[in-house]
Amino acid sequence: MKTTISQSPQFIEQTVTIGAWLANKRSSGKIAFLQLRDGTGFIQGVVVKNDVSEETFQLAKNMNQESSMYITGKIVEDNRSPFGYEMQVSNIELIHEANDYPITPKEHGTEFLMDHRHLWLRSKRQHAVMKIRNEIIRSTYQFFNDNGYVKIDPPILTGSSAEGTTELFHTKYFDEEAYLSQSGQLYMEAAAMAFGKVFSFGPTFRAEKSKTRRHLIEFWMIEPEMAFVDHNESLEIQEQYVSFVVQSVLENCKLELSVLERDTAKLEKIKAPFPRISYDHAIELLKEKGFDDIEWGEDFGAPHETAIAENFEQPVFITNYPAEIKAFYMKPDPDRSDVVLCADLIAPEGYGEIIGGSQRIDDLELMKERYEQHGLTGEAYEWYLELRKYGSVPHSGFGLGLERTVAWLSGVDHVRETIPFPRLLNRLYP
Ligand code: 4AD
Repeated sequence: MKTTISQSPQFIEQTVTIGAWLANKRSSGKIAFLQLRDGTGFIQGVVVKNDVSEETFQLAKNMNQESSMYITGKIVEDNRSPFGYEMQVSNIELIHEANDYPITPKEHGTEFLMDHRHLWLRSKRQHAVMKIRNEIIRSTYQFFNDNGYVKIDPPILTGSSAEGTTELFHTKYFDEEAYLSQSGQLYMEAAAMAFGKVFSFGPTFRAEKSKTRRHLIEFWMIEPEMAFVDHNESLEIQEQYVSFVVQSVLENCKLELSVLERDTAKLEKIKAPFPRISYDHAIELLKEKGFDDIEWGEDFGAPHETAIAENFEQPVFITNYPAEIKAFYMKPDPDRSDVVLCADLIAPEGYGEIIGGSQRIDDLELMKERYEQHGLTGEAYEWYLELRKYGSVPHSGFGLGLERTVAWLSGVDHVRETIPFPRLLNRLYP
């Protein structure tokens, strides 16, 4: 019977065969302990000299790390093993003998590991982080499908920019100039006018010269957009969505969270509603905390966000930022035109901003005015203005950065470990 490590608890006291790699090994005289992995999980295989052929025992004792095999044995319960069961090995069929695997169980520096990312992904820790990433994606689709959203795919090659022109990756589109998408938002607004509630999930590109633990050059964003939904209603959707994802990860990634030694008590508290503070209030709070230089009208950096988040156990919305420091499409507060109806959601424990969102301008004349102020001209934007010409409605949307959310829920410090092959300021390899 051929099975996988994750399925093997269904075969207690039965003999099965698993295709596996050798993650680690130790042996003492007449017994060898093989740490096996097959992509679905990890299990210990115990090879006892007297129970197997001499050939199998020698193979088990001498096999190198990352060699591949079909391994056969009986699955038995074992409370000492972290998974609660292990394999009593009866036979090993070697598929490929690996030699000099560069990532040994000893400590390696980060640059070395990043150079070997294609192999580093096999480690228990990286495996756990990617499984959590996968659960966030799975539960995202579940949340939006269950709530009547349609998944819409905006283009990656675009002629227009959504988030300012300084961070665009330029590329040639035959004889035209094109960019890699910074955000699918403008297209998602068109989609919301066609389907009501939509969401996208795709890669985005920012030519940001930032070298911080929160910035990637290529990252993945989930961007919902909703017609007939105002700013406050959008905040409610955001807090329900984030709570749902956190609870799904707690429920379905218990093993991974324990491998990562994540403090789950902190995550268990994450439930809607989330606190909201205005940008004005955030400035006051920062001054009280000793940030004397910050002035009204300036954007927040990572230290400011961390200081604000310290006051809360839940993620916190900072709302109504000055219009000047935010994107052209955000709707001004009807009571105060110097601020816009927007919010950033700041994760607890110093993981920073995970969502940026806003209510969008729905008035054609105001949108044209904003366009001119931002120097956005040309036919690349004509279609976007037309959305305000034919049945314009109040609408809102937001973007959640997948990698920062993975970092927060996994408890890893740097976003480079939250995406399979990170693109960083100085890294395009592997
Ligand atoms: O705040 P941002 O720039 O918002 C937008 O792009 C909007 N158009 C979204 C929308 O309303 N549809 O980015 C949204 C989120 C941030 O909160 C952050 O989590 C993530 O995307 N993000 C990054 N993640 C990793 N590396 C970077 N360089 C990031 N820039 C933004």
